[in-house]
Amino acid sequence: LYISKNIPVDQYRISFIGAGRVSKALAGVLYGNGFEIREIVSKTEESMRIFAGLFNAQPKSDLRFSGCDIVIAAVPDDTLENVLKDISCDDNVIVAHTAGSIGLGVFPPEIKHVGVFYPLQTFSEGRRVEFRGIPFFIETSDKYTEEVLKNLAESIGGIVHFTDTRHRRLLHIAAVFACNFTNHMLTSGKKLSGEAGFRFDILRPLINETIMKAFEKGPEVSQTGPAVRLDKNTIERHLDLLSYSPEMQKLYREVTDSIISFYKKSI
Ligand SMILES: NC(=O)c1ccc[n+]([C@@H]2O[C@H](COP(=O)([O-])OP(=O)(O)OC[C@H]3O[C@@H](n4cnc5c(N)ncnc54)[C@H](OP(=O)(O)O)[C@@H]3O)[C@@H](O)[C@H]2O)c1
Repeated sequence: LYISKNIPVDQYRISFIGAGRVSKALAGVLYGNGFEIREIVSKTEESMRIFAGLFNAQPKSDLRFSGCDIVIAAVPDDTLENVLKDISCDDNVIVAHTAGSIGLGVFPPEIKHVGVFYPLQTFSEGRRVEFRGIPFFIETSDKYTEEVLKNLAESIGGIVHFTDTRHRRLLHIAAVFACNFTNHMLTSGKKLSGEAGFRFDILRPLINETIMKAFEKGPEVSQTGPAVRLDKNTIERHLDLLSYSPEMQKLYREVTDSIISFYKKSI
């Protein structure tokens, strides 16, 4: 019944929609592991051309897929629904998206095999990411799709978990706090160390120890600093120094208040 059913996992033929960070990272590791990257559809000619050159794929402008087994749609969350509704493909083709916060309901009913293929990792331009050990959260319309997406993730070293949309969305929020918000804090740290006349690197031992300690002891028992000590005078001096930037002052105050109320509650 299905083309893919009896073929070895490394012979799955994969097409991509979107030629951005996730598509490039996934296509890179799959191509490196011998998979055929068949077609690429993206918004601009330029990014399709680059993607096609890197992975020996065919750029195209329509969303009709026939000669592939899996289509991975990695486009901005807010455009996903519009892109998916224009896809036409054979009944045996699996279409998956990579968005942590979006469920299976985004796929039109005409697509028979659909899934979510969400890698819990951060991908940026120009960085090669090690896929070994990355958790993949998979949700599918059927057993066959589950099997194929699981094989695909495991063939590149991913660790597969099956979750429903609500749990994956919670994990996505966890990632926003742990990765995106942390990175924004690092940006503020870099800015302030620069103002003190030092390079960002001056914070490296501190940042490394913070992350290592959080995993070895637990983040909630590792908190230090004026907020957890309730050093109010120090906090006031910091807020005073930040008065040139209402934005940073506001951030400092809100995170400080959050730390104070967290430890008031839990001590
Ligand atoms: N980045 C991460 O760390 C990460 C991690 C896990 C999951 N995700 C998820 O993965 C998905 C993609 O994220 P991303 O970071 O890879 O995004 P991205 O780097 O912004 O790339 C999005 C790609 O989609 C293309 N695109 C936009 N509108 C399109 C349309 N109408 N038709 C076809 N292609 C279109 C863009 O085209 P052009 O390049 O041609 O402009 C771009 O190549 C999102 O759902 C996101 O939630 C991201």
